[in-house]
Amino acid sequence: MAENKKGLLIVFEGTDGTGKSTQLKLLASALQDKGLPVISTREPTEGKYGQEIRALYSNRNKVSLEEELDLFIADRKEHIDTLLAPALASGKIILCDRYYLSTIAYQGAAGLDPAHILARNAFAPTPALALLFHAPVQTGVKRITENRGEALNDFEHEEYLQKVALNFEQMDFPWIKRVDADRSIGTIHQEVLQLVQALLRRNETE
Ligand code: ADP
Ligand code: TYD
Repeated sequence: MAENKKGLLIVFEGTDGTGKSTQLKLLASALQDKGLPVISTREPTEGKYGQEIRALYSNRNKVSLEEELDLFIADRKEHIDTLLAPALASGKIILCDRYYLSTIAYQGAAGLDPAHILARNAFAPTPALALLFHAPVQTGVKRITENRGEALNDFEHEEYLQKVALNFEQMDFPWIKRVDADRSIGTIHQEVLQLVQALLRRNETE
């Protein structure tokens, strides 16, 4: 049997507090336990553009919407060049916390045209699977404020997140799998694992 060298990009998407990072960590360790080559990463990255984006969290009005989009795109380009493309080429399973569906949903909710945002992302590899976590916005906000003990930042205000959630709801790429995030962590993990195992089986036989 030929060795499977095809890399896979699996992205975790959804509004804040839906449990993306929690589920990504659980999936990463489950796949590592099976001896699979997993890489975990996230956007915005820790790179120079990612840091500029984080500096905007407390005051988005410092830059225009188009400049804000430029920063997310520059961060993604750097992420792809330095990490995602080489890892895909060497057959890794990449788990990425947020990717371009977040740009469509969040910068779309801020006022940019979703089709324009998608076109600006034409350079980015299409994910093999997007796990799109959904739960009532209030549930996510409550998890963030109660567990983190923090106020919401400019990207997390509830009214804005309602628009973001609606944008996520309207997406229909064939590689999206929706996951009900308003359940226990363990139940969600089992479903995520099944979805990913089905993808791995398909990838082996292709
Ligand atoms: P996200 O990455 O989507 O913003 P996190 O994984 O950081 O979300 O989760 C936000 C908070 O909610 C964390 O404190 C986490 O422990 C908690 N949490 C995650 N999933 C669940 C769940 N299914 N039920 C209850 N709390 C959860
Ligand atoms: P988050 O994923 O919660 O990371 P952190 O742990 O650094 O807070 O936050 C990223 C925020 O940035 C989130 O509110 C969504 C937003 N975002 C965009 O607006 N556009 C994008 O393209 C991406 C990747 C994130």
